[in-house]
Amino acid sequence: MLNQKLKALTKFINKEDIVIDVACDHAYLAIYLKENNLCQEVYASDISREALKNAQKNIQASKVSIKTYHADGLKNIPLKENNINTVVIAGVGTNTALNIVKNANYPISKYIISSNNNHEELRKTMQELNYYNEEEIVIKDHHKFYPIIKFIKSSKKDNNFNLKYGKSSNIDYYHYLLTKEENIIKNIPEQNTEEQAKHQKEITNLKKIIKERN
Ligand SMILES: C[S@@+](CC[C@H](N)C(=O)[O-])C[C@H]1O[C@@H](n2cnc3c(N)ncnc32)[C@H](O)[C@@H]1O
Repeated sequence: MLNQKLKALTKFINKEDIVIDVACDHAYLAIYLKENNLCQEVYASDISREALKNAQKNIQASKVSIKTYHADGLKNIPLKENNINTVVIAGVGTNTALNIVKNANYPISKYIISSNNNHEELRKTMQELNYYNEEEIVIKDHHKFYPIIKFIKSSKKDNNFNLKYGKSSNIDYYHYLLTKEENIIKNIPEQNTEEQAKHQKEITNLKKIIKERN
């Protein structure tokens, strides 16, 4: 039931964690965590009543007990009362994920985020919010790459290179980004030197990553 992305994400969850899967949709992740005893407690929430109904059906069918919340992000979820310290946000855009983090009114020690786009913005803004990218993996599922990032509460800072390209060791992912850049540059007119230089720099950087992390 659990796709490769969500399965990979469980690598960042520890036995002692009290987790909420925000944007749980089907709640497969929460069910998997509970069934396999991978954390101390798990909650699930979603903004969509329809999704939550589906989640509750799946939870019942799995014969596990998971409390669910109908909520926009973490708003009105009793984080303190439930001692929630780990928040999973997966399968939403970076803007949505960041709004959820910004609106949290309780100090969360770990966010595990796999957003669909703008990963540089995600890393930069999380850093501004004092969350450090401690580990990042990239999973390929059905021909698509999914970065999954473990952010921990810390004022430790990353360099601009890591903020831009992430910290994954998945060389296939960087080859994919490199091919994308090489295709872009092919279509830039030679006289557009500024754009040419911009994309050439991307190519140089991606080649450097591939060489260094191989
Ligand atoms: C594509 S599903 C992702 C499901 C699962 N997390 C995954 O990664 O496979 C996106 C879910 O995010 C929910 N969602 C979108 N914005 C949300 C928000 N602000 N708060 C809570 N849930 C949200 C949607 O209702 C939908 O169920």
